Amino acid sequence: MEWSAGRTQVNSWNEWDPLRHVIVGRATDCHIPPNEPALEAKVPEDSDMRGMWGKRPQESIDRGNELLDGFAALLEARGIRVDRPDPIDFSQPVTTPDFHTGSQFGCMPPRDVLLTVGHEMLEATMSYRCRWFEYLCYRPLMQRYFEEDPRFRHEAAPKPRLTDADYHKDYLSEKIGVEKRLQWAADKHFVTTEEEPLFDAADVLRFGRDLVVQHGFTTNQKGIEWLRRHFPDHRVHAVNFPGDPYPIHIDATFTPLRPGLILNNPQRRLPEGQREMFHRNGWEIVDAAQPAHNSPPPLCYSSTWLSMNVLVLDPKTVCVEKSEVYQAEQMDRLGMEVIPVELRDAYAFGGGLHCCTADVYREGGCEDYFP
Ligand code: NVA
Repeated sequence: MEWSAGRTQVNSWNEWDPLRHVIVGRATDCHIPPNEPALEAKVPEDSDMRGMWGKRPQESIDRGNELLDGFAALLEARGIRVDRPDPIDFSQPVTTPDFHTGSQFGCMPPRDVLLTVGHEMLEATMSYRCRWFEYLCYRPLMQRYFEEDPRFRHEAAPKPRLTDADYHKDYLSEKIGVEKRLQWAADKHFVTTEEEPLFDAADVLRFGRDLVVQHGFTTNQKGIEWLRRHFPDHRVHAVNFPGDPYPIHIDATFTPLRPGLILNNPQRRLPEGQREMFHRNGWEIVDAAQPAHNSPPPLCYSSTWLSMNVLVLDPKTVCVEKSEVYQAEQMDRLGMEVIPVELRDAYAFGGGLHCCTADVYREGGCEDYFP
């Protein structure tokens, strides 16, 4: 079916084919949620956010929205259709029969919640209690896509119970130390247990017939097995990056740019034993450039490696955050046209240019890149 801007079609099989329709998140009403097991394990021990919670300062929200609106306008000016989520009231607590938490998070990073595979958009289980209801922000869009595209499959993974049994207790301590965290990451001992399937959509990268999924804090082995059974026509590969003491979401660690080329975070290299399928098929995995910043912006969960959290518009064009000059230079050397996009002041709301988007339509079909 030919692409037409007027009517929704959901179709996206990889991270690089020409982008035609995308969702861009919003910073509106974003909260720093209260402590909970998964979050406590993730917030870096030296972070300025430990112990804080409540609504983020309004000026920072306004600035975040200004940048996200600017990014949406830039994409629209290039002919890409952009949809936005409808924020809910994130100050509301979440109470289920199994847990209670004092507030929610926000809807800036749609990539964490929505996984687009072909004509399907799948709502992830999520692994934080404060993000249990985040899918509601996207339901108006899902309803519209369902009405407009007869091929669209709207799926939701089983909502997890997120009781204390989902989290390893030894992670719930103020001071663990990076050395021990790295040892645990090497041993694949993460904060989430194998109580039930858990995954965040941002742990998944799409390579046509192959899905590459990070096993870490936000996605457990049962989550990966659930994805394997849910997508029986795909090959699902579990990967892990032992150099990362806080392994959540794959998109500041492993960034495919086009068929045959992937950037890998040099502090979180894919272990030799997991490179085989890429090497056998002639794919190059190159170290990403160093970030331009020594520390993340204030009240930000993510690392400085959001430098490599880029949005590929087509195999020759990539959006890179404007201040990430080393990453932009490397993209240029790799033959990509770079579109600089100012977003750093929105990082605190949940990530960079890849995180703050979710694919609706990219040209192309389901190719086999690893025959
Ligand atoms: N683990 C990541 C999250 C990036 C989206 C980080 O480097 O902070």
